[in-house]
Order: sequence, then C-alpha cells, then structure tokens
Amino acid sequence: MAPIPIVFDTDPGVDDALALMLALASPELDVMGVCTVNGNVSLDICTRNALGLLQLLERNDVPVYRGADQPLVREPVYATEVHGKEGMGAAVLPVSHVAAKENAAAFLVEQLTQRPEEVTVIAVGPLTNLALAEKIMPGVLAKAKRVVAMGGAVVAPGNASATAEFNFYADPHAAQDVIRSGAKLTLVPLDATQQVGLAEAVIREKIVPLDTPMAKFVVDAVANVLAYGEQLGRDTVVYLHDPLAVGVAIAPSMFDCLQFSLDVETVGDLTMGQLVSDRRQAPVGGRLGHTVNCVMGVQADRFLNLFLERTLNLQAE
Ligand code: BDR
Ligand code: CA
Repeated sequence: MAPIPIVFDTDPGVDDALALMLALASPELDVMGVCTVNGNVSLDICTRNALGLLQLLERNDVPVYRGADQPLVREPVYATEVHGKEGMGAAVLPVSHVAAKENAAAFLVEQLTQRPEEVTVIAVGPLTNLALAEKIMPGVLAKAKRVVAMGGAVVAPGNASATAEFNFYADPHAAQDVIRSGAKLTLVPLDATQQVGLAEAVIREKIVPLDTPMAKFVVDAVANVLAYGEQLGRDTVVYLHDPLAVGVAIAPSMFDCLQFSLDVETVGDLTMGQLVSDRRQAPVGGRLGHTVNCVMGVQADRFLNLFLERTLNLQAE
C-alpha cells in the first residue's frame, strides 16, 4: 500500500521529537512537511528544534513551515518546567543550515485542497495552526482524510490544570474550533497517552547502553521530564503522549476508540481548556457538542515495543 501523506503539526518539545522520530521511521507514512507552533516553548525555539532534529536524523529533505507565534486569544503559556528552557531537556541538537518556510496554515490549506481526502494531519501541539487554516478557508479541515490530534482529557484529570490537558489549555479557542470543524477527527487524550510510559529503568538498562547518537539524544532529552516527575513525587516515566498520535496512524489495531459528544471550554479560572464530554443518559434537549472518535485504550506493551524498535532499533525480548 502507498504510504499515507502526512502533515505533522508540532511544538517540539521532548515527546514531539520522539513522535517525529517515529513518524519518519515508519514506512506507512510519508511526511510531506513539519508545521511548527508556539506551545511547549516559543515558536522560534520550536522551529529551531524541528530543524535541528531533522538535521540529526539526516532528513533535511522534509520542509519545516513556521506557524502561529501565539494562541488565538489567550496569553501564551509554556511547559518549560517539563521540557526544559530550550524544549529538548538536556539534549543539544545540531544547528541546521536549512531555513524554515512561511507559513504553516497556508501550507495546510494548500495540501488539503490539492489532495482532498488523501492527507492525514497529525497534530501534537496546540491546535492554533489548524484553526488558522480553517479561518483562511472554512471547511478545509474536513478535506483531510483524517485529523489525528493529541489533546484533551475525557475522563482523566488534566495535566496543565485540574481540568485541562496542556495542548487544549495552551489554546482553548483553537481546540474548540477544531472540535467544531466537522473534520474526521480522532482525538488522542490523556486517558490513552498516560497508559504508555517509557520507564526510567528501561532508559537506564536498555537505551543508555546502545550508545548511538540517537540513543544519546533520547537519554538527554528525557532527563528533564524524569527529574521533574521525581521532584513532584510522581512516577518516573516519560509518557509517550505525542508518539501515540503517530501510532494511531500507523497501527490502528493497537488502539480502542469510543465516540463522545465533545466541546471545549474557553473561559473560567478553573475550566479554561477543559474538554467537556456529555456522558448523560438520554439528556433532555439532546447531547451538547460534536461527536468525536476518542482513543481510550492502547495495547501499551505492543506500542512501546514498536516505538523502541522503529526509533532506536531496539528489539523486544
Ligand atoms: C501534551 O502537552 C505537551 O507538553 C506535550 O508535548 C504533549 O503534546 C501532553 O499534554
Ligand atoms: Ca506536543
């Protein structure tokens, strides 16, 4: 089967980098371009990281498009405590001599209109670029074969606030626009992504001894995430949030999906960015929101093995 053309929208970000590594190592996918967005760190840093990672992977043939440098409405919030000041933990990426192109939303519109029903958009950052594409051309996201977006928390608690997951918290208006867009959307919420963690022991016992440039990059990149978890007294694992969205596109049989009626809250000290699912039984006046396919379960061991095999050539035991 011909590989699926992909637009990869991202805010690298440690797990974003792991997701791009997986996408580029997957013969099922053909990454047409990488769009960057303000998110975990500023747009400039995200763009530099995307270019540096492509340089490290010797994939400078993949173009990078600069996207939104701020959310649609709210003030920017960053996740430097998790991803480090430069977004890549303790890893230092090579400097790329390739320049990023302008602009991500226009690139999305171009790809989706030139190849209707063919292109899959994998979005693993705040959804600002996707919302801007929809503003340029209303209805354009519905031309995608599929939009797979990591974001939100259906039943699980938030990770950026008590109620909100980071990507939705960082641009709630964009998340709301995408949920309401009519796109064939598969959401990959925290409910699923927190089922797959790269444990500290696996990193120490299996990845460190590999001693390759890519293994070294991964070990250095995840160090900050692990230290932050430890500091907070949480499990010392690196959740594979963003790689899971790639997994949905390459190995759908590993995932269990459920449909929910969803909308996104854009206001409120306690609720900004909350994904609201109407789970009432036969509500009077009908269910609120829009029907969205949500990944709620994953065969965690199978996915982790696939991830390690493809990104680091580590064979499962
Ligand atoms: C999401 O937030 C970001 O910090 C990660 O890169 C991921 O996309 C998880 O909530
Ligand atoms: Ca991300």
